[in-house]
Amino acid sequence: MSKHKVDVVLGLFFGDEGKGKIVDYLSENYDVIARFSGGNNAGHTLYRDGKKIVLHNIPSGILNPNITNIIGNGVVINPIAFKSEVEMLASHGIDARKTIIISDRAHIIQPNHISRDSFNEQVLGDKKIGSTLKGIGPCYEDKIARKGLRVGDLFSEDWDEEFPQVSSHQQSFIEACEFLKTFNIQKTEVLINKLLDEGKSVLAEGAQATGLDIDFGTYPFVTSSSTTTAGVCQGLGISPKRIGHVWGVIKAYSTRVGNGPFTTELFDEVGEEICKRGNEYGSTTGRKRRCGWLDLDQVKYGSMICGVDELVLTKSDILCGFDTVKVWSDGQYHELKGWENLQDPNFQNFLNFIFENTKLKIGIVSTGIEKEDIVLM
Ligand code: IMP
Ligand code: MG
Repeated sequence: MSKHKVDVVLGLFFGDEGKGKIVDYLSENYDVIARFSGGNNAGHTLYRDGKKIVLHNIPSGILNPNITNIIGNGVVINPIAFKSEVEMLASHGIDARKTIIISDRAHIIQPNHISRDSFNEQVLGDKKIGSTLKGIGPCYEDKIARKGLRVGDLFSEDWDEEFPQVSSHQQSFIEACEFLKTFNIQKTEVLINKLLDEGKSVLAEGAQATGLDIDFGTYPFVTSSSTTTAGVCQGLGISPKRIGHVWGVIKAYSTRVGNGPFTTELFDEVGEEICKRGNEYGSTTGRKRRCGWLDLDQVKYGSMICGVDELVLTKSDILCGFDTVKVWSDGQYHELKGWENLQDPNFQNFLNFIFENTKLKIGIVSTGIEKEDIVLM
């Protein structure tokens, strides 16, 4: 945990590396957890006492009542989805209202963004991106085109009439916006910098991953936001000088949901087996994820872009029992001996291989779904 700086958790593949669980685990050490990009295209799955909780818009610090959860200016919020997420948390006995603070500069996903998302994909046909269809792209389009609707705008009188694009509104959207307005809305960029000055600790929670970044991902098969460390600065309003420790989260194998290039994709029964064992189905859309071997070239690239200090490895338990596993590095496959369990020397060998090829220390190994299933290296 860095003093006066923002530590960062990011995914280095195509999302679904298990960032939510890691943030939940690390959150014990932090006063604030902040989301800086993306919206409810994200699906961060947490398990607590056997119960599964999937978060889309709300930061993964929410299960701890002592943590402030900030939704930063770089995030896009769907008010209807936000309301149901708050209600879902209430059914688990969690009062989200107490700990969430939302940026007045965050943009609002409107009903027309969702229909435009579907329309855009239809037009692309075979070349479609495989969007989650949550309206993320069109919402960021409107932001960049300087015609977006921001959380702060909801406080002006007749906001729904002032924004012509809302005119096709549904009543449920207006109601959800009114619900959103009852939350703690602030200039979160000012708040975060003040909290850092006071010595409070802040962890930024990435959504999606470097492979999906608008600039450094596999364009055009990307999401519409900055998912990298630079995105933390822009999406929270902190200076690059205030970036602290950067955790890069990787899975022991790779997955991708949606279309676009995937170097190590498997089309055989091994891929099927990984998908089955790893339960690789999208937590937002339910779609089957494409599965493949670990791609260290992608890890090296992502680490260069994001300034990764340390890796977090998740889901190595899923590969237990394979005779051999493959890892892609320097443009070719390397075959390693598989492991029976995580005490097996062959697993240590796999960790060493990652270290030697990336020169990055693996600080945390996640060994299962519950928050406690963690080994610190
Ligand atoms: P969009 O952000 O919904 O437009 O989706 C663009 C691409 O990013 C599609 O391939 C999605 O499947 C992928 N994507 C978006 N969010 C996530 C995520 O949280 N995890 C994994 N893939 C995602
Ligand atoms: Mg996910």
